[in-house]
Amino acid sequence: MERFVISGPSKLYGNVKISGMKNAAVAVIFGTIAVNDECVIDNLPNISDVNLSLELLKNMGAVVEKLGETKYRIDTRHISTIMAPVEEAGKMRASYYIAGASLARFGVCKVGLPGGCDFGERPIDQHVKAFEAMGAKVRIDEGYIDASAVGGMKAANIYFDCVTVGGTINAILAAVRSDGVTVIDNAAREPHIVDLANFLNFCGADITGAGTDTIKIKGNKQLHGCEYTIIPDMIEAGTFIIAAAATSSRVLIENIIPKHLESMTSKLSETGIVFEEGDDTLLVKSNVSELRPVNIKTLPYPGFPTDMNPQTAVLLCSIPGVSRINETIFSDRFRYVNELRRMGASIDIENSIATFNGGQRLKAANVRAVDLRAGAAMVLAGLVAEGTTSIEDIFYIERGYDNIVEKLSSLGAAIKKISIEDFT
Ligand code: EPZ
Repeated sequence: MERFVISGPSKLYGNVKISGMKNAAVAVIFGTIAVNDECVIDNLPNISDVNLSLELLKNMGAVVEKLGETKYRIDTRHISTIMAPVEEAGKMRASYYIAGASLARFGVCKVGLPGGCDFGERPIDQHVKAFEAMGAKVRIDEGYIDASAVGGMKAANIYFDCVTVGGTINAILAAVRSDGVTVIDNAAREPHIVDLANFLNFCGADITGAGTDTIKIKGNKQLHGCEYTIIPDMIEAGTFIIAAAATSSRVLIENIIPKHLESMTSKLSETGIVFEEGDDTLLVKSNVSELRPVNIKTLPYPGFPTDMNPQTAVLLCSIPGVSRINETIFSDRFRYVNELRRMGASIDIENSIATFNGGQRLKAANVRAVDLRAGAAMVLAGLVAEGTTSIEDIFYIERGYDNIVEKLSSLGAAIKKISIEDFT
C-alpha cells in the first residue's frame, strides 16, 4: 500500500500549472468510438482514470499511441467488440460513455455498470431514458448495460428529470450519428459538456447549445478525425485555490480558463480571499485568520461545484466563525467529515447541511481518502495541520490529480509518497 505523508503547517509560494480536465478527457476519449477515425488528443492529464479509459479502448480494438507527455493518437476504426467487461468498466464512472458512443456507431452495446466514487445513490435511469427515447431497447442485467437499437439510434426530444452531467454526455454521444435533430432539454451546462461538443463538432458533428440547458444535435454519419486539446481542469484549479487560501499563501495558478472558475471565485471572494485574474492565470492571496465565514450551496454548473465540497470544508475549518455547506447534488458527499474530525475539526451535520465551527488549528492524524475529492481534502488538511499527517487509499486521489505531490512540493509543501513498508 502507498501513502502520502505531509508535514504541516505549510506555507506555499510560487506558480502551479493546471493539467487537462479529467471529466472532459474521459468524455472525449470515449467519444472517439463514435467518430470512427483517427484523432489526436492533447492535454490529457496523467491520471489513472485517463489511463484506464485508454486501456478500455485498446481492449476494444482501438489503436492508442502516445505522441508526447499529454498527447495521444487514438484510432478507433478497427474496434472489434462493443463489449466493455464489468471488471474493467466498474473501476471508474465514465466507462458508461462507451454505451452512448457504441449505440451511435454500432446500434448496440454491452457495457459493465460503472463504478466511481461512492457518495450515495448514483442511478443511471436518465441515461436509459435518453437511449430508449432514441429507440434503443435497454436491459440492465447481470451487471451490464445491454442495449440495442434496430436500424440505429433515432433522433428524439429528451427532457431530463434532473440535471445530469453523465446523462447529458451520454445522450449527446448516442445522438451524434442518428438521422434528424435530437433536442435535450434540462441539460447539464458544465464546461466539460461544451468541450465534448466542441470536439465532436471538430469531427464534423453539428451540435449547438452546449453550455445551455437546451442542446440540439443534428446527427451526421460522416464524422471524421481531428486534432483536439482538452480544457484545463477547473476542479484541480479550485483545489489549488483552497490550498493557497487555507495556508495563508500567495500562489499563481496558471493554464486556467477564468470563466470556468467564477462559480467558485465569486463565492470564495466573500470570505476576503484576494483573486487577481489574468488571461489564463489566477493569483490567490490570503491570510486565513482574517477571512470571514461563508455559507455555500452546491448546485449544477454554474453553481458552486459539488466536487469542491470536501476541499472547501478544509478552508471553512480554518476560518474563524461559523460557516455552512449545503450539499444538494449527492446524498452522501460528507463521508470525509469523519476523517476531518479525527484531525480535531468541529463539524455538525444535519440532513444536507454541514456546519463548520472554524478557527481551531487542525492536528495531524492518520486518515484515509474515502473518495477522489475527499482524498484531495485530506491532502489540504495535512498542509494546514500541526504535525505529520499520513493518508491511506491514495489511489482515489491519483484517479483525478496529475502529479499532485510534485506540484505541491514545487510550491514548498513537505509532502511525499511512500510505500507502506518504509512507513515508521
Ligand atoms: C459527474 O458525475 C462527474 N463525474 C462527478 O465528478 C461530478 O461530481 C458530477 O458529475 C456532478 O457534477 C464525471 O464527469 C466522470 P450526475 P455524474 O449524473 O455524471 C442524479 C469527480 O470528482 N442522477 O450529474 O455521475 C445523481 O444521483 C466526479 O470528478 C440521477 O438521478 O453526476 C445525482 O444526484 C465525482 N439519474 C445528480 O443526478 C441519472 O440517470 C447529478 O449526477 C443520473 C444522475
